[in-house]
Amino acid sequence: MRFFVDTANIDDIKRAFDLGIITGVTTNPVLIRREGTQDIRTRIEKIRACIGDGEILTQVVARDTDEILRQAKLISTWDPNITIKVPLTLGGIPAIAELSKMNIRTCATVVFDAAQTLAAAAAGATYVAAFLNRTNALGIDGFKMMEDIIDAFKKQGTKTQVVAASVENAHDVLRSVKLGADVVTAPYSVYEALIRNTASYATVEEFLTGWSCKEI
Ligand code: E4P
Repeated sequence: MRFFVDTANIDDIKRAFDLGIITGVTTNPVLIRREGTQDIRTRIEKIRACIGDGEILTQVVARDTDEILRQAKLISTWDPNITIKVPLTLGGIPAIAELSKMNIRTCATVVFDAAQTLAAAAAGATYVAAFLNRTNALGIDGFKMMEDIIDAFKKQGTKTQVVAASVENAHDVLRSVKLGADVVTAPYSVYEALIRNTASYATVEEFLTGWSCKEI
């Protein structure tokens, strides 16, 4: 089980890594644009500067195979620990297959159906990113979708790892881990909520009330 932070915001990335439990960063074009930029390379460099040797997953901004491949090859030269997010589409799958042959790590992203991931696994994707809440929003159970992926991969001994993405709250994280996701990616606020519990804080206050000795 690994936790990644899903953002391109440097303050949130720093806060997340300061928790000591986060080992990677996932971004996508919307998250990068939200920071007022479309300069992916500079954003990756800024992220790298504050996460040590952690993993970065960043997405290509293309639809057809040739352009996805061109961008993925280029991006892979920018950073020593980068995984290229490639959309799980008819344009994306051949690119993933080609990138796998070149030992470039990929994450087949925007997954809404377990069956899609069979193609990603066959193409040699390092990860598939199951979009839990975006699938729920379509009236389809996103967690059942991810459970089906995990079951199928387990039965086949598939090396491709499953990322729980489009995660909205702490209980989504727990559910994802219980189902066997290899990685959960979520915004910083979700990790903060996962740790912060009112009863824990109240109990700390109860234990410390009246404690006056400053040294131990
Ligand atoms: C995953 O890598 C994506 O960046 C992300 O989880 C998308 O989720 P959203 O539904 O919050 O946009």
